[in-house]
Amino acid sequence: MTTGGGLHILMLSLHGLVRGSRPELGRNADTGGQVGYVLDLARALGRHPGVSRVELVTRLIDDPGAGPDYAVPRENLGLGAELARIAFGPRRYIRKELLWPHLDQFVDRCASDLRKRDRLPDVIHSHYADAGAAGARLSQLLGIPLVHTGHSLGRTKKSRLLASGKSEAALERQFNFRLRIGAEEETLDEAKLIIASTHQEVSNQWGAYEHFRASRSLVLPPGVDTSRFSPPEPGTRNAPCALVDRFFTEARKPLVLAIARPAPKKNISGLIEAFGRDPALRSMANLAIAAGCRDDIQGQEDPVREVLTQILLAIDRNDLWGHVAIPKKHSSEDVPVLYRTAAARGGLFVNPALTEPFGLTLLEAAASGLPVVATSDGGPQDIVMNCRNGLLVDPRNPEEIGGAIRTGLSDPHRWKNWARNGLRCVHEKYTWDFHARKYVDSIEKLLNRGRKAGRKSRFFSPPVFPERLRHLSRILVSDIDDTLLGDRDSLRELMSWLDQEAERTAFAVATGRNLVRALEILREWDVRVPDIIISSVGTEIHYGPGLVPDTAWERQIRDGWRRKALEAAFQEIPGLRPQAPEKQGLYKLSFDVSPRVMPGIETLKNHLRTLGLQARLVYSQNAFLDVLPARASKGLAVRFLGHRLGVPLDSILVAGDSGNDVEMLLGDTLGVVVANHKPELDDLRGLDRILFSSRPYAGGIMEGIAHYRFGCAVPSLEQEVMVP
Ligand code: GLC
Ligand code: MG
Repeated sequence: MTTGGGLHILMLSLHGLVRGSRPELGRNADTGGQVGYVLDLARALGRHPGVSRVELVTRLIDDPGAGPDYAVPRENLGLGAELARIAFGPRRYIRKELLWPHLDQFVDRCASDLRKRDRLPDVIHSHYADAGAAGARLSQLLGIPLVHTGHSLGRTKKSRLLASGKSEAALERQFNFRLRIGAEEETLDEAKLIIASTHQEVSNQWGAYEHFRASRSLVLPPGVDTSRFSPPEPGTRNAPCALVDRFFTEARKPLVLAIARPAPKKNISGLIEAFGRDPALRSMANLAIAAGCRDDIQGQEDPVREVLTQILLAIDRNDLWGHVAIPKKHSSEDVPVLYRTAAARGGLFVNPALTEPFGLTLLEAAASGLPVVATSDGGPQDIVMNCRNGLLVDPRNPEEIGGAIRTGLSDPHRWKNWARNGLRCVHEKYTWDFHARKYVDSIEKLLNRGRKAGRKSRFFSPPVFPERLRHLSRILVSDIDDTLLGDRDSLRELMSWLDQEAERTAFAVATGRNLVRALEILREWDVRVPDIIISSVGTEIHYGPGLVPDTAWERQIRDGWRRKALEAAFQEIPGLRPQAPEKQGLYKLSFDVSPRVMPGIETLKNHLRTLGLQARLVYSQNAFLDVLPARASKGLAVRFLGHRLGVPLDSILVAGDSGNDVEMLLGDTLGVVVANHKPELDDLRGLDRILFSSRPYAGGIMEGIAHYRFGCAVPSLEQEVMVP
């Protein structure tokens, strides 16, 4: 897959406001650490000699409130890296919890953009659950391996909020955890590699997920910008620092520094308590706290107001005036100076957070030659263990924090060692260039494994379809049972419309039946052999009238399909009876279901995972369960065809009535749900490009043709309303 030109990496980071120049980190809740991370990563990978191209794809936002930069389709990020914006969902800015219903549209648009090129990316790297869900679908659609980084995980956040006493229902309304966690599980099932920042992220956080396999994870911490953070010049011990010195009675004492957002979990008041309860410490050192910027505390919103109030009250209660600096404002240029000042004065950086997923500040301190005392959690555990540049403490115990700070300040020889260790360690292991080197090595390994397993880019194999299909403008795809067939009159109406359109419109069916049984029933209803037959729930594609099989489709879907093992895995499951042998396919195992007896679909998926098996489970009509290759479904087959025949998805009209039709109805295709549909399709109501027709069967398809003005001879809506 890689050409001589090196890797082509497609990164997806969909929410927030992403721009390369002067990124507005902190501008809103969705524009923070992750945005900084993906920009740094994209640039570092772009610089790597083994990488020819990095594209960071995000949402195009056309909203005057956000600013014009976010509506630009492409932005250069420097050597080998660029930002690409794709519009999906509403034009305006929306928060990440509201992006879910629009992801299918993103997938279709991104895939169709990619397919216009003569080379597909080698790997897709998604960031956060929303991009993970989209990336998993793209990966299945295009046959490109998926790599994923979680950034923050739904299960972790949900259990933290539940523990803090919030109600499940309120959380669901605000955060949409059901969708988020579902997306994360789906992503894990597809991803070939999970990149985590810390070991704790792997064991405690991802470890809580059903589909997580530790063997597919890699701990790779982000890098720190070592051009911004460097140790003080020798002999600057007495250099003043106006920002904090005006608070202190004796400014020359060792400076203990904390930099953290005023958030409850950052536990800044715990650090103040530590000073307050330890008279020896307060006479030894000063404390400087940079806790964001504030105007009038009363005017702030909670929890910021509450946290700042608590901090000031704790300083006052312990009478720490003259010992603690808490400036109202600091700029981003002040930050490196603060670290350097603390280092020059032989001080420490303290991170007392109750939980700390990563703790970039620890690395900034280390890069400034400043030893640390940090919470024994998450990132700090890895950093202090790797670098041996300080001590870990229990953040809930102020005495322990105070004791560790005194220990750290009391022995100049040990202090120097810590400072030196931290500095060396950051330059060796915590730079983006180091990250990029490890990253590229792992991706190369992954792709080599894939190559050995015979995975190829399948989209450029020579087409096998008849000449007639080479010059199409449109495709009409209909499910057979209870969609195309069911009412003879409207079926005749539809057939005569198709005859008129035959030159530029292909007629396709997509069915759960196998090829033979599909042709049988079509003959019974006097329907001509379709141009395209997607059969056995999307696992087979044939072209009519010669019934030529599409072997490229077979090659695309067989990846990871272990039929025998799957058959065995389903043998003892209660409530499932194998359907008749002629209903089974080479790439399809089908069961009749007793709905009250069968375990839930999630339970079945977990069962497969514990056996190391991968499959797509399609449940329809409370009666059938189909087990398919992960890369096959009616929906994926339709998208494959669109590409193969050069027909964009918005020129493909699809019609269906039941569960196995869902995938082809979603996204950019023009969807029609016939009036006689099963209740399981009710969830699709209100989505873009899904028409719930008022007529049943083929009549519903006719209504869809009129609604979307599909084809040249569009039946008028009036006429359609008059037909019963
Ligand atoms: C058709 C197929 C059956 C499948 C069902 C649902 O009825 O014959 O095998 O389970 O569709 O997709
Ligand atoms: Mg049907």
